[in-house]
Amino acid sequence: MPMQGLLSHRSRFVIWLAPAAVLLCALAWLAWHQVHKPIHTQQLSAQAQLGHHLFHDTSLSASGQQSCASCHLKELGHASARGLEIGGPQMQFTGDRNTPSLRYLWRNTGLHFDEEGKASGGFFWDGRSDSLNAQAAEPFLNPAEMANPDKASVVAKLSHAAYAAQFERLFGKDIWQHTDKAFDAMTQALASYQTEDADFHPFDSVFDRVSQGKASFNAQQQRGWELFKDPEKGNCAACHTAEADKDGTPPLFTDNSYDNLGVPVSAKRLKNQAIDKGVCTHPLVSARADAHTLCGAFKVPSLRNVAVRRAFFHNAAMTDLREVIAFYATRDTDPKRWYGTNKPLGGVHPSLRPNVNRDEVPYGQKPGERARLIEQDIDDLLAFLHTLTDADLQAITASPPVAIAAPSAAAHAGRRAANPVALNNR
Ligand code: HEC
Ligand code: HEC
Repeated sequence: MPMQGLLSHRSRFVIWLAPAAVLLCALAWLAWHQVHKPIHTQQLSAQAQLGHHLFHDTSLSASGQQSCASCHLKELGHASARGLEIGGPQMQFTGDRNTPSLRYLWRNTGLHFDEEGKASGGFFWDGRSDSLNAQAAEPFLNPAEMANPDKASVVAKLSHAAYAAQFERLFGKDIWQHTDKAFDAMTQALASYQTEDADFHPFDSVFDRVSQGKASFNAQQQRGWELFKDPEKGNCAACHTAEADKDGTPPLFTDNSYDNLGVPVSAKRLKNQAIDKGVCTHPLVSARADAHTLCGAFKVPSLRNVAVRRAFFHNAAMTDLREVIAFYATRDTDPKRWYGTNKPLGGVHPSLRPNVNRDEVPYGQKPGERARLIEQDIDDLLAFLHTLTDADLQAITASPPVAIAAPSAAAHAGRRAANPVALNNR
């Protein structure tokens, strides 16, 4: 007897109903997902798609080995694995500035002076580019980066690229005859890619989920968050803005201003007098009578994804995030730890020393005084900074901050030995 014969009408109905229900659920899920899918899978404009190709194309460098993506790795938050990157026609040069993350830059503007008279905005550590578009022109021609001799040689390479037809469709078949136009079209496409692709600004960190009420901080992260905002303790939010923008954009953890933190430089650089003056070389700044006070000041970077970064500060002077926080805490109370001398700010070039920020918390203490932030506070701040990591990068920081937060005495000694001055032997 066939099996069905044993079943009642009712159970036969259930057998049909079950797959139908599964199908319906699947369809409903698909429909929901269509509406709620992450923005970064949405279609990019043709120009931004072209930008995506350009960003990953190594054939546009003199060495044939380097694209934007070689230094700005998506899996490291579009920052670099080494900090100071190599480049040049034979990949023989090392850059002298840290490779920043390209995330959360899309709303930045050119350098200007705000209502309070503070320099703010600008791309690069010294603010010298006014837009993502203008910025994208530089790496192609920088002798220590993609190292092309001129725009014409870049455009010649473009005209042979796999996506050359796409370029012609967008900008006209005769585009290759107009070097400047073709070069500008290329930088515009790169800017569109970084602006449109939500990979560059996903806002899906633990911090964002907590802000949306979808998650909560653990006790340590919460303590770190309080310290971060407390004007008497960390005061980090004074520069690394922790409030949403007027239009509701979640906090970017930078106010895009400039400051001189007295970051240690290498003994070699101090001796060579090859000092990096930062933002005071910007024409809008150097035109002002008080320009010298901004020498040695660099742009406040966003702290989103800072926990996946491999090197910190404009000169990549440090490679351990906990050390960076400890530097803020004890720069003035324990100068020897940072500069190898008991002299306050001893490792800063004498010409830049007067410009170092000494007034704002967490600074402004004397050698030997008890630091405003104690070891536990540093661990708590570290735990908080780990909550700023975008979802796609969280695997990298999967090691719980608590493990870093309870160092053995030996580990401490090791950290001290890894003096930033020695690390940064330029
Ligand atoms: C050799 C490594 C290298 C390559 C290749 C490279 N960059 Fe960079 N990028 C850097 C470094 C280093 C800086 C910081 C330099 C400075 O501030 O003077 C930087 C800065 C930037 C900035 C400014 C970030 C900020 O915070 O203001 C943007 C945007 C950027 N790069 C995009 C690109 C694009 C687009 C390309 C490809 C056309 C590219 N980079 C190629 C190393 C590189
Ligand atoms: C007065 C402004 C100011 C305050 C206050 C401040 N920062 Fe910064 N922060 C900066 C500037 C400017 C830089 C870059 C300096 C440089 O590279 O020379 C920076 C860099 C950093 C970096 C390195 C990021 C990178 O990508 O290299 C970290 C981490 C950081 N700050 C964390 C903090 C924490 C934590 C606090 C609070 C304890 C804090 N900051 C307070 C201005 C500030």
